Amino acid sequence: MFSLPSLPFDSNALKEFLSKETFDYHHGKHHAGYVATLNAMIENTPWAEKTLEKIIEGTRGNTPSIFHPAAQHFNHAFFWNCLSSETQSIPESLQKRLSASFKSENEFTRIFTDTALALFGSGWIWLVQNPDTTLGILSTTNAETPVATSQKPLLTLDLWEHAYYIDYRNDRARFVENFWNHINWNYVTSLLS
Ligand SMILES: [Fe+2]
Repeated sequence: MFSLPSLPFDSNALKEFLSKETFDYHHGKHHAGYVATLNAMIENTPWAEKTLEKIIEGTRGNTPSIFHPAAQHFNHAFFWNCLSSETQSIPESLQKRLSASFKSENEFTRIFTDTALALFGSGWIWLVQNPDTTLGILSTTNAETPVATSQKPLLTLDLWEHAYYIDYRNDRARFVENFWNHINWNYVTSLLS
C-alpha cells in the first residue's frame, strides 16, 4: 500500500511562487486523495504487491480506475521533487545536454513554455530523456505520464488548474513564468544518464 510522501520543503517556503494554501490543498487534499483512491482500488488485488511503476505500466490503456490515481501519485511526488525554494542555476552537465538537444538553454525554455501555454485543459509538461539519450519536451493530458514508457522523465510542471488557481486564478502564463525561478535543477541533473 502506498503512503503520501512529505513535501521535500516547508509548505511556506515557496510563497513567492505558490502559497501555503496551495500546497495544503494540492498536496494535502489532491495528492492525498489520489493515494487514498489508489490504495482503495488495489486492496485485495494482485496490484497490491506491485511497484508503482509496474501498476502504471500494467493498467495503462485498460484499467483507468487504477491507472489514473497511480499515475497521478507518481506525477505529483515527482513534481514536488522538481521544485526548489531557492533559485538554482542549471549545472553545466545539464546545460550541455540542453544545448545539444535544443540548440540553446533559451530555446529549451521557449519551447517548454510554448508547450505549456498550448496545452488545452488539464495535464503535465515534461522534459524527458529519449532512449538515444537526447532530451525532449512533451505534454501529457490528464493523468498520462511518460513513466513506464521509453522516455525517462527529468522535469515536470503540473498544469491542472488546482496547481495554480488559488494564487494565479486564470493567469496560467504567469504561473509558468514564475516556475522557472523555482526549479530544482540539481534534482533534474541527478536523473540524467
Ligand atoms: Fe496536481
